[in-house]
Amino acid sequence: MAGTVFFSVSMSLDGFIAPQSSEELMGRQWMELQRWVFAQRFFRENLKLGTGGEEGPDNDIVRETFERTGASVMGKRMFDAGEQMWPEDAPFHTPVFVVTHERRDSWDRPGGTTFHFVNDGIEAALDRAREAAGDRDVRIAGGAETIVQCVNAGLVDEFTISLSPVLFGSGIRLFEGVDAARVALEPVRAEPTQRVTHLGYAVRLR
Ligand SMILES: NC(=O)c1ccc[n+]([C@@H]2O[C@H](COP(=O)([O-])OP(=O)(O)OC[C@H]3O[C@@H](n4cnc5c(N)ncnc54)[C@H](OP(=O)(O)O)[C@@H]3O)[C@@H](O)[C@H]2O)c1
Repeated sequence: MAGTVFFSVSMSLDGFIAPQSSEELMGRQWMELQRWVFAQRFFRENLKLGTGGEEGPDNDIVRETFERTGASVMGKRMFDAGEQMWPEDAPFHTPVFVVTHERRDSWDRPGGTTFHFVNDGIEAALDRAREAAGDRDVRIAGGAETIVQCVNAGLVDEFTISLSPVLFGSGIRLFEGVDAARVALEPVRAEPTQRVTHLGYAVRLR
């Protein structure tokens, strides 16, 4: 269904999506969490990591997630980390709306990504993303704080977690602060591969 709002993240088996500090990004835990995705041909080409890569079911999921996305909403901490790491030709190729308190002009990248900085909250960011996405879907790209705000506000229709076989022990927990009394989940997909288990849920408010 066009206009669906979703998120799709890699999560450790104990519920974390990133190490606590940005200095640890690209460290051992992050690489173990994301090992499955770094191996995929579509991801490698899109991030300009080189040729080659796997073309099985994990690659299909990465490509489908990219192709359904007409615009993204992102938190400022994810943007700050990505700004250091993405190639000049950033890997979104669509508008990206960054929720932040910082005032900043829109930033065009080669290849069709434009980052817009939104200072009036997630609903305003999502309205703009829906309009920009046209007949495609809107991805809440992350991180956890932004995803949880959207879930708690009843703005997320569905999500996918790629459950990686790694334990963090501590870090940024995906569902920290979720309004568990309000949010109900309906399982819609469970697909194990050699590398991870992809879990899909529809979100219903109680
Ligand atoms: N495992 C995965 O698949 C995955 C996916 C995505 C991201 N990540 C990771 O997640 C981490 C970041 O997540 P996070 O939870 O720490 O942070 P985040 O959600 O990316 O960003 C939070 C920040 O965004 C701004 N913000 C959020 N909501 C706002 C609002 N309503 N109004 C104004 N500003 C708002 C605030 O920054 P300011 O006050 O500074 O503006 C806030 O501190 C990164 O390490 C990233 O790599 C992992």
